[in-house]
Amino acid sequence: MITSVSIIVPTYHEAENLPHLMERIAASLNATELKWSVIVVDDDSQDETVAVCEGLSEKFPLELIVRKSERGLSTAVVAGMRASEAETVLCIDADLSHPPEAIPAMIETLSAEECDFVIGSRYVAGGTTDDEWGIFRWLNSVIATGLAKPLTSANDPMAGFFALRKSDFDAAASKLDVIGYKIGLELIVKCDCREVREVPIHFADRQFGESKLSLKEQLNYLRHLKKLYTYRWPEVARFIRFGMVGSSGVIVNMVALSLLIQLSVTPPLAMAIAIWIAMSSNFFLNREFTFQDRTTANFVSDYVRFCLASLTGAALNWSVATFLWSTFSLFENAPTLAGLVGIAAGLFVNFTLCRRFGFFGKKQAVQESAGQKNNETAAGTPASSPIGSR
Ligand code: GDD
Ligand code: MN
Repeated sequence: MITSVSIIVPTYHEAENLPHLMERIAASLNATELKWSVIVVDDDSQDETVAVCEGLSEKFPLELIVRKSERGLSTAVVAGMRASEAETVLCIDADLSHPPEAIPAMIETLSAEECDFVIGSRYVAGGTTDDEWGIFRWLNSVIATGLAKPLTSANDPMAGFFALRKSDFDAAASKLDVIGYKIGLELIVKCDCREVREVPIHFADRQFGESKLSLKEQLNYLRHLKKLYTYRWPEVARFIRFGMVGSSGVIVNMVALSLLIQLSVTPPLAMAIAIWIAMSSNFFLNREFTFQDRTTANFVSDYVRFCLASLTGAALNWSVATFLWSTFSLFENAPTLAGLVGIAAGLFVNFTLCRRFGFFGKKQAVQESAGQKNNETAAGTPASSPIGSR
């Protein structure tokens, strides 16, 4: 049985909403046995938030944290959760979009031993949203939710109305990497919440003030997703980066080849040089972006081993493609298809060789599944972050 809950309310210019919110939270929670308190985390709003909270704290169990040096919904929520001393933490928007009346049912749901995360959800049977949602907001929400599907079975992982055990939060607190504003999704993944349950709610449009979430935050969501995917499936992410570097090598090869031909180098020699240039470019890019956690101090040996792996991959590519083309009638008339299968086979073997057999140094004793964060290379220098991050 859960006995206490901290209700975390991130705010930015929500002074008008807070009194209504507090009344409704109190009415809802006072009807239960739960010990509760509210932690408002405000990012130095230039409105009456501080005065309003002071007034409210005389009547309700309310604590205000004002952050002056940081801005952001997700980090505000994390700050509030850290400050909590309750058994569970629940996050709710200040703008009355989320019904406080659903809180007791959410905590009740979380009480089930196997349940580790509860969402006040728009997208389960019984859940609704206000009708005024334009097509853009709706589409936006559907796409954002769809992109998160592989990470969690939840129907509404984008929600800002959710609860989890404080002990689960504490266990994952050091792993949190909060960019963007989907803090619920970040917590589901990092706290490894497999059993997510949803309580239907009606999501109401805000009455006062306006949404604080900009397009920039939405773009940050894509970066956030990339980090979460990399965290959950580090080796798949690595393979994708390897494939992207390989594709860039095709362009490098083509450009180098046409330049060399223009310089009147004979084609066979030009082709060989172009392959070598592309392979070297692939080496530098992979060293920087794909195997950054596995480079050794010995640059030359890394390079030689990479070239051996690449040439093996290329030889396999060629063998598979020509074998298919010369053996099967299907491929006889479609040499490009045979070439494609060859590329896939070559890429895979090349990647496996680089990864498994010590190319780019021995596999480091790093917490691979814990993502790239805090990894150290063999030489003891911090590994650089994956592409596009930060
Ligand atoms: N401390 C702090 N700092 N709070 C913030 C900040 C910030 O930089 N930005 C927003 N907030 C607070 C708001 O004051 C509000 O209480 C809550 O976070 C949600 O912000 P809204 O501006 O109301 O966001 P929204 O309605 O567009 O988005 C809501 O719905 C989404 C799903 O449609 C949020 O709940 C999102 O988390 C949710 O994904
Ligand atoms: Mn809102």
